[in-house]
Amino acid sequence: MFRDYNLTNISLPLKVLFTSYLCVVAIGYIMATAQILLTHGMADGKFGLSIDDIVYSYYGNRSGTLLENKLDGSMKENASDADRLAMIKWVHDGAKESTFKSQGIDKIFENNCLACHSAEAGMGLPDFTQFENIKAVAAGDTGASFSSLTRVSHIHLFGISFIFFFVGLIFVMAKMDSVILKSVAVAMPFVSQLMDISSWWLTKFDPMFAWVVIIGGTGMGLAFALMWVVSMYEMWLMKPVDD
Ligand code: HEC
Repeated sequence: MFRDYNLTNISLPLKVLFTSYLCVVAIGYIMATAQILLTHGMADGKFGLSIDDIVYSYYGNRSGTLLENKLDGSMKENASDADRLAMIKWVHDGAKESTFKSQGIDKIFENNCLACHSAEAGMGLPDFTQFENIKAVAAGDTGASFSSLTRVSHIHLFGISFIFFFVGLIFVMAKMDSVILKSVAVAMPFVSQLMDISSWWLTKFDPMFAWVVIIGGTGMGLAFALMWVVSMYEMWLMKPVDD
């Protein structure tokens, strides 16, 4: 394809078109990076993107529940170690109503907590005879919801492949000879994107996958930078050469 043409010898209007597109897409990329730093980057309360940020964003911060903190703090004396462990484990598993009875958590509350945490006790504390009040103190942050994940995934899949289709098409016209390097660079954003998006989903279930998010994002950025710089360089700095 484009045997007689390459980025160095195409007409000026075509160069202007390609350049305009590449510039606007680059600004978009910078904005996207800024947005990541301002949203996900702040998830752990510190500036800059870290593995913790990604874990908090997708998996959530499941150890930060009020119930668990109290069980390790001011409520520690109110239950045996075994009971506290069982409750904390139940919280980590998502504090589900379905396992509340089957794991015997209801009994632990009954025996250890309701003396003070009930309407009868009259202490004005959260009433743990009602499951929703337990849910409220046990509700960890479970990270990104499925609806937000499907929304962001489909927008990214369509949007990013659209962007990289054209960035890749421009880059394919580069004078640069290495067919292998070209093919790898063109494929990399698509592969990285699939890695990135599947790792969001995987991280939701296991924080171990957070590093795949970083690799996917980095791969995409590197491929973008390479294609952008080579394309711009050939169009504006290289002398026109015919194939
Ligand atoms: C002897 C009475 C007593 C018992 C028994 C008791 N609590 Fe408490 N609980 C309190 C008091 C008083 C507070 C408020 C002071 C505080 O937060 O430490 C409280 C606060 C809490 C809070 C924070 C509520 C909020 O909205 O801030 C949680 C969660 C909690 N208790 C869990 C438990 C659990 C779980 C048990 C059973 C293992 C339990 N408590 C047993 C007296 C009790």
